[in-house]
Amino acid sequence: MNESKKKSNLGSGRIAVRLLGALKPYWGLALLCLLVYAGSRGLFLFTPWVEGQFLDRVFGEKDVDYLFILVGVWFGIAFATYLTSLGTGYFVSKITGQTRRDMQLKVYQHLRFLPCRFYDNHTTGQIMAYVNTDTGAAAEGILASGWIVAGGVEFVITLVVVFWVNPWLGLFSIPFTLAVVYLPVLFRRPVQNASKQVLQERESISSRLQEGIAGSREIKSLGHEMRDMGFIGGSLNTLVRAEVRQAVIGGLTALGPLASWLGNPLFFFIGGKMVIDGDISVGFFWMATRYLNLLTFPLYRCQNEYQKLLRAGEGAKRVFAFLEENPTETQDGITGINLQGKVRFEDVTFGYNETEPVLENVTFEVQPGQLVALVGPSGAGKSTLLNLIPRFREPTQGHIYVDAHDISTLNLRVLRSQMGTVFQDPYLFSGSIEENIRMGARHPERVRQDDIIAAATAANAHSFITQLTDGYATEIGERGIKLSGGERQRIAIARVLLRNPKMLLLDEATSALDSETERVVTEALERLMKGRTSFVIAHRLSTVLNADVILAMENGKILEAGTHQELLTQDGLYARLYHLQFATSG
Ligand SMILES: Nc1ncnc2c1ncn2[C@@H]1O[C@H](COP(=O)(O)OP(=O)(O)OP(=O)(O)O)[C@@H](O)[C@H]1O
Ligand SMILES: [Mg+2]
Repeated sequence: MNESKKKSNLGSGRIAVRLLGALKPYWGLALLCLLVYAGSRGLFLFTPWVEGQFLDRVFGEKDVDYLFILVGVWFGIAFATYLTSLGTGYFVSKITGQTRRDMQLKVYQHLRFLPCRFYDNHTTGQIMAYVNTDTGAAAEGILASGWIVAGGVEFVITLVVVFWVNPWLGLFSIPFTLAVVYLPVLFRRPVQNASKQVLQERESISSRLQEGIAGSREIKSLGHEMRDMGFIGGSLNTLVRAEVRQAVIGGLTALGPLASWLGNPLFFFIGGKMVIDGDISVGFFWMATRYLNLLTFPLYRCQNEYQKLLRAGEGAKRVFAFLEENPTETQDGITGINLQGKVRFEDVTFGYNETEPVLENVTFEVQPGQLVALVGPSGAGKSTLLNLIPRFREPTQGHIYVDAHDISTLNLRVLRSQMGTVFQDPYLFSGSIEENIRMGARHPERVRQDDIIAAATAANAHSFITQLTDGYATEIGERGIKLSGGERQRIAIARVLLRNPKMLLLDEATSALDSETERVVTEALERLMKGRTSFVIAHRLSTVLNADVILAMENGKILEAGTHQELLTQDGLYARLYHLQFATSG
């Protein structure tokens, strides 16, 4: 379920204020930008006056000298306007680029510190949509809010000029300008709804696309290419429809032009009659018409930007909701400790949801350096138990201690830095083999080449790496796709060796490796486990035989604990599993 759908109810005004808050670090630049823009528009306000003078003095009085002056003034205004608009463009792109970056970084940083729980409930595509589409939309909202402020400033300057030229003209313009401002606010709801739908469609396309790429092997083998195309095609069509609806609704509710449809004819009628009666000159009539239109220009701009703000507001709401509704893992807690690796579970209960416990009243203790083998049928809770130790999940009841420390009091980074994990199907990052091994260290940039080779050698990976054409520089593709399962595991083992952790969490590969690979991997693992408290989800006979303690689990409970011999004589769960699984696995 996408949590952002139960969004907080922020109005567009509050959204605009929050978005403008993002400009805070750049207020100096923003102010400069506003001044340059105001200068540019202010200069432009002279043009109706120049035109009026042209009609009355040059044409009316046939003043040739004045013609030269006016041409010069016009040229000066045009050139200065060009320069100032260049400046505005530069500042605007700089400010929007930086605010967009800030927002994306904030979202990404938030994402980095979210607990595993969040990732259970959101698809990668949804998350990508938060970082890209939604923050992009929100950044447009910042720009739109900025333009609304600029439009407001320009309107006030223009209004002052209009009143200064003729107060009656100013009064005449007011009802029409109010219409331009008020109508789009009145019709904001449909625009918001249409925008919301566009963003939801983009999110669902992003999800589908990501799954289509990640699952491309499965889609091929199932022969579902056309079906997948059909889904994407359908979503794209819905998006186009939503976007068209958004544009149409936007156009319909932008009723600003109505003001000039009604205002101009009325003014032509009144003003035209005054010219005929000799009350005002042709030049004045022309200047007044132009000023009335100049007055509506910033309002149209505000109206357009307001439409954009409504659209962007939906993106911003999603971003704000994402940041507020998903709390990150705390970065507080005890630091500066060096753990020995004694582990104690005290009456630990845990469930992924409140109703169904997956682990119940788990209690055991392990001495530093011991090897603990977890065995049990599928779904017994073995991986879940492992995930509690680095606090990927938090117990709902009970306590876990490492040495004398309740792990809930320790700083997460410190706790996790003392642990190494090798999963069944370890994730390798795109990049070279060397980069992937180096990443295991606490300070990757300080690791020497020799250390990497030593770790790879201990992990029985050196010989296969040197046989590759590019050796350690070999690019392994996304998820290490260019390597075999056994090779990937050994790279992951080298990665953990470089880390040299006090505790080890290991999910042995269930897939049958050939006996030679099995031997080199097992050898590497044994070297890795030496001298570290190791929790291993065991699928190999050698592991259970070597284990100091075997924990036999079923339905989230530890039913038996002891060595291989002790548990065999009990003739319970372990003995049953042993005969079914381990005795035959070699
Ligand atoms: N992220 C999750 N959200 C909800 N339920 C989960 C989640 N992960 C596991 N479960 C449930 O918790 C139970 C225990 O799962 P767990 O992965 O710990 O079993 P396991 O003993 O490791 O099994 P296997 O040997 O198949 O790996 C299962 O019933 C599973 O459906
Ligand atoms: Mg498991």
